[in-house]
Order: sequence, then structure tokens, then C-alpha cells
Amino acid sequence: MTSKSPDSQLMEKIVSLCKRRGFIFQSSEIYGGLNGLWDYGPLGVELKRNLKNYWWQVTVHERDDVIGMDGSILTHPAVLKASGHVEGFSDPMIDCRTCKAHFRADQLVEKKGIKQCPNCGGKDLTAPRQFNLMFETHVGAATDESSIAYLRPETAQSIFVQFKNILEVSRKKLPFGIAQIGKAFRNEINPRNFTFRSREFEQMEIEYFCRAEQGMELLEYWKEERLTFYEKIGIPRTKLHVLTVPDNERAFYSKGTYDIEYDFPFGRQELEGVAYRTDYDLSQHQKASGKSLEYFDEETKQRFVPHVVEPSAGVDRTVLALICEAYSEDQAPDEKGKMETRIVLRFHPRMAPIKCGVFPLLKNNSQLVAKAKEIVSLLRPHMTVFYDESGAIGRRYRRQDEVGTPFGVTVDFETLGEKDAARRDTVTLRDRDSMKQERVAIQDLPAILRDRLA
Ligand code: GAP
Repeated sequence: MTSKSPDSQLMEKIVSLCKRRGFIFQSSEIYGGLNGLWDYGPLGVELKRNLKNYWWQVTVHERDDVIGMDGSILTHPAVLKASGHVEGFSDPMIDCRTCKAHFRADQLVEKKGIKQCPNCGGKDLTAPRQFNLMFETHVGAATDESSIAYLRPETAQSIFVQFKNILEVSRKKLPFGIAQIGKAFRNEINPRNFTFRSREFEQMEIEYFCRAEQGMELLEYWKEERLTFYEKIGIPRTKLHVLTVPDNERAFYSKGTYDIEYDFPFGRQELEGVAYRTDYDLSQHQKASGKSLEYFDEETKQRFVPHVVEPSAGVDRTVLALICEAYSEDQAPDEKGKMETRIVLRFHPRMAPIKCGVFPLLKNNSQLVAKAKEIVSLLRPHMTVFYDESGAIGRRYRRQDEVGTPFGVTVDFETLGEKDAARRDTVTLRDRDSMKQERVAIQDLPAILRDRLA
């Protein structure tokens, strides 16, 4: 008998599938791994790119009021001093004197009113002390105070620091946004829940600049926009929750913050923060750099520091949510008609790493193989395609179901026109979710699939 909850069993199945099928591996695995760091394999990288590309498409390409940038990861210490990170980007840490483990203060377990180490149950704990989460390094040959730089803990700061340059070159009028996707680094005390809390991760952030009086309204607007985004990538509204961050938990400069949360198997957890940060960041950088970061309004002839609303999403957390949401098991007949458990990743076709599998019925028939390869060439300019000729056709379908490929095309003897000339150059098109098959003309495949992927 197992004492594990169904949810932790589900998480184990997901982690194991991710490794088995090449979505996510532990970083430096052959050397024992490095805690809190992950590598994306051939399918993981496709899934992640589909997510980032779609975010960029709807956030930057499809809007007139948002432009993009890509800032450096290594950051001047002055930037992070002005933003408050050097002084205050820390978590309270406690050490267990018995097993020497380190914990975030809020992760201790309490039994009969006594705080205990979650690792060994020890009660001999240090008092909490502040632990700064930023990774520090040195730029150039010297390794002294003067050469310190930080790996950025969020992508946001380079947007604030480049605000003036981007305003000048883009000549945007308020309100407008600057978007960025990129890596961020935090030396989390306890990385956990697979990729959910990592030490290296990616963010997709928008800093949307506006007038003070527009801030609260835009906070509501962006919360709704972001909820719609998640629905469009296949995360249903019923699994998303909006938490209004209470006054005492918000950053002191924020006038309103929402957390968008998702029901992960390990609990309801944050996917994204949407915060109205007022004019705090630009004002801080203006003060510290001595350079004006003001906006000049041509109509009113006013000069002022803009306010900002920030939707800040985690790429890795969203990838994990997509996998958790897609994972399902159902019953399907095997080759001999016997029912067996089928693992299916029901990704939204837009997110699926591979869009279409192409299978010749037999691999030792040169005509079937040639036709299947022709179809691969026909589809490749439009989508990611996987060609598979090995094993029984049912097995090949299952392998694609398990990685979430929404469509499968099979080339059989009817395609060659051997049984019925009218069926020449037609194939079966199989749907991953319903497992239904239909007969379609090869020449119609690109249009049919493109339509269903949209
Ligand atoms: N610029 C605002 C900002 O960075 P945050 O709430 O600290 O706000 C935003 O981070 C998002 O970045 C989070 O909602 C989460 O999706 C992601 N994120 C933060 N820390 C993370 C970590 N250790 N591992 C994975 N993702 C993380």
C-alpha cells in the first residue's frame, strides 16, 4: 500500500513522462544534478517556444501600443541598488542545527505549537536572518567590490532603465508598453515542485506605462487580458483563480496587485503577477542616475514621470501548467482490440510540440514510404511534423498521443490506388482526442490542418 496522495502520484507520473519523452531533464544529471536547475529536451524546447512565440504574437505583433526589447542578463549594481533589490530582495532563512539544512522561515512545520525542521524534525533552529536571492558575479579580470555585477532577478529593470531610449526611438504616446521575454535568476532557498520554483527561469513581462489616473483601470484591463491569454493556450477559466493581494502583503509602492493562480496537482499556486507599480521604478532610476525619465505630453505641455502596470508571467510555470493540464489517461483498444490505458497529453494544438505525425502503414514497402515522405515535405513548411515508420501502427499512434501530437496521417494501400482508383492520393487523418479517422485528399491536408491548428 502506498501512502502517497493521488496528487503526488500524478506529479510523479508527469515528472517521469517529461524525462521519458524528452520534455524536461534535470540539469547536469550525469554529475548528480544541480538543485533547482532544469534542461528542456527536444519536445520541451518546442513547447516552450510555442508559448513564448504566441505570447509575443498577441502582446507585441498584434498590438499597436506595445513594442519589444531584449536586455542583458548581467546587470550594473547601480540598477539593482536603485530598484531596491540589493537592499531588500531577500527571504528570511532559518538553519537546522541538527541536520544543517536551510529553510525559508515560512516552510517550517509546526507540531503542537513548536516549530520543527521539515527535513529531520529537529527543534534546534537558528533565528531567521535575511538571505539575498540575487546571484552575484564579477565582470572583467578584477574580482573586487568595483567589478561586482548581478544576474538579473527579473527582466523588468532593463525595461525601466531603457525607457527613455525606447520612448525616443519609437515615439509612442502614453499609454504604451514595452515587452520582454528572458531569463531571470534567483538563488531560491528551497527550489521545489519540479520546475515551479527554480533558480534559473524565464519571464514574459510587460511594463505598460500610463498616466497616474489610468493606473487602476489598466490594472483591471490587463488582468482580464491575461486571463484570456491562458484560456487561448488551453488552460480553462475554471482552473484559474485571481487572488487580490492584501494591502499588508503588497510591495509598499504598489496600489494594487493580482496574482493569477492555477490549480497545480501540488496545490493552487501563482502563475503570474499583475501589479500597478505607480511611478516608483522610473522615479527611483531618475533619482539614482540623475537622468530625466520624464514624459512630455505635447497636448497639455506637461512633463511627468509615467506610472506603470506590470503583467509578469513565468514561462516555466506556464509550461508546467500546460503539461499538468494536458496530462490524461483513458481507455483505448490495443492492436487486438483489448482495452488498455492510454496516456494522452491533450495540448491545445497551438501549443503542441509536434503538430502532425506521418506514418507509412508498412516500412518495407517503398511506395508507401515514398508517399509518406512526400507528405512530410508538403507539410513541413507549415508546421512541425514527425515521421515514424517503426512498429505497429497502433503503437505509433500511442507514442504520438503520449507527447500530445494532435493529428496523425497514415499512408496505406488505398493511398496508392490499389483497391479503388477514386481513393488514390487520399490518406486517413486521425484525431488524437476522439481517435476518429477520416479520409482526406493529400492536397487538402495543409489547409485542413492549418485551419484546425489556428
Ligand atoms: N517583475 C515582477 C516580478 O518579477 P514576481 O512575482 O517575483 O514578479 C513574476 O515574478 C513571475 O515570475 C511569477 O509569477 C512566476 O511565474 C515567475 N517566477 C518567479 N520566481 C520564480 C522561480 N523561482 N521559478 C520559476 N518561476 C518564477
